[in-house]
Amino acid sequence: MSGMLDGKVVLVTGAAGGIGRASALLFAQEGAKVVAADVRAEGVDETVAIVKAEGGEATGAVADLTRSTDIDAMIAKAVETYGRLDGAFNNAGITGGQVGQGGKPTAEWDEEAFDRIIGVNLKGTWLCMRAEIRQFQAQGGVGAIVNTASLAGVTGFLTTSGYTASKHAVVGMTKTAALEYAPDIRFNALCPGYVNTDMLKDTMARRADKVLSRIPFGRLAEAKELAEMACWLLSERGSYATGQTFVVDGGYMAG
Ligand SMILES: NC(=O)c1ccc[n+]([C@@H]2O[C@H](COP(=O)([O-])OP(=O)(O)OC[C@H]3O[C@@H](n4cnc5c(N)ncnc54)[C@H](O)[C@@H]3O)[C@@H](O)[C@H]2O)c1
Repeated sequence: MSGMLDGKVVLVTGAAGGIGRASALLFAQEGAKVVAADVRAEGVDETVAIVKAEGGEATGAVADLTRSTDIDAMIAKAVETYGRLDGAFNNAGITGGQVGQGGKPTAEWDEEAFDRIIGVNLKGTWLCMRAEIRQFQAQGGVGAIVNTASLAGVTGFLTTSGYTASKHAVVGMTKTAALEYAPDIRFNALCPGYVNTDMLKDTMARRADKVLSRIPFGRLAEAKELAEMACWLLSERGSYATGQTFVVDGGYMAG
């Protein structure tokens, strides 16, 4: 049986855990050669080991996506290892809680924390896109990119000012690139609802009942359920999809 990503070389950022790890595993199961990248070296090694244990092909790249030199090295690793790059899932990200701003309304956000979240979620994604597009162009100009945004990329959420700003900007940047590089390179934004990953641990510990009561499915998404959409968008099956936001949220936004 052929896989959805047979023969493709696909980069996944934020691959040390959560949605990124589940995606690395699924993409490899669907036939991709995966470059699993993250700032957390141990998590990268674990992800590569998990993919290989399942019979897939992967290599790791340790990169801080706020540094363009790390990003260049990450792309170079993909090309040195597998000869080319066909797709990228720019998925790494951080929340307000991770920079000490959990529960703070807009006027209480700290400037340094705001810069940090924009630096990782927005500038990091742009730096990745820039390097990936250049690599696609160097090898013929064709490719597909999926950027992870969030429900916070399409609507507001209390006390998430910097996060929401970064994710709305990712959606806008994705649309612009889709116009610029059509039809050769496709760009889409994936907007997860609430997903059962480390990122959500604090939120669930503080207010699980409140979160679950807003989700028509009455449960969190599993990371693999997001990976499935990213896989489709990166594959030829998504060949006419570009410049869009794909919300996967158990019905949250229908309400
Ligand atoms: N979990 C959710 O409910 C949820 C909801 C909406 C959107 N998202 C988005 O999904 C994406 C993946 O998050 P997740 O839920 O899998 O959480 P996660 O914390 O498990 O994964 C995020 C990964 O990004 C990595 N990362 C952070 N800063 C980095 C940097 N500077 N350089 C390289 N890697 C870096 C982390 O090490 C981590 O492995 C994020 O962009 C997040 O904003 C998550």
